[in-house]
Amino acid sequence: MTLNPKLTKLLNEQINNEMSSSYVYLAMAAWFEQTPYSGFAKWMFTQSREETMHALKFYQYLVDRDAKVELQPIAKPKMDFKSPLDVFQHSLKQEQRVTQQINDLFEVAEQVKDHASKNLLLWFLNEQMEEEKTVGDMLNRLKLAGNDTASLLVLDREAGSRPSAGGAPDVTPGA
Ligand SMILES: [Fe+2]
Ligand SMILES: [Fe+2]
Repeated sequence: MTLNPKLTKLLNEQINNEMSSSYVYLAMAAWFEQTPYSGFAKWMFTQSREETMHALKFYQYLVDRDAKVELQPIAKPKMDFKSPLDVFQHSLKQEQRVTQQINDLFEVAEQVKDHASKNLLLWFLNEQMEEEKTVGDMLNRLKLAGNDTASLLVLDREAGSRPSAGGAPDVTPGA
């Protein structure tokens, strides 16, 4: 089944959205590297790699569907932040934006009755739910910690214990 042109365009845009997301997280990692919070830096770096994997998943899906891949420029990300709380606030907004994008994509897939695309997008909707929860939880704890350095360092250590996304990215749609 040929991929619908509108869906093809939106899936290509989503490659860009995910790569932009990866770039945003890499900028956040770089910001944390300039602070004592090495755990948050590692967390952001790992998240950046995950977003690249998301982009590759959309890329591979387009290739598998025999559709044309069109890559667009990636915008310069925000590089300056006020605090760990400020970074995670931006992160949550970004994830909410991506959830909206995937929701919109799902709606188009539904309109054109492309069930394979719906299946791919369902995987992403679940992923978004998890990411919003992870970021939201950290944000709540950062709010509680406030300016208490000891509490912030505990959260930093916890963030640093996140397993890093090592090895080759799994780009199998739905995996
Ligand atoms: Fe993503
Ligand atoms: Fe994400």
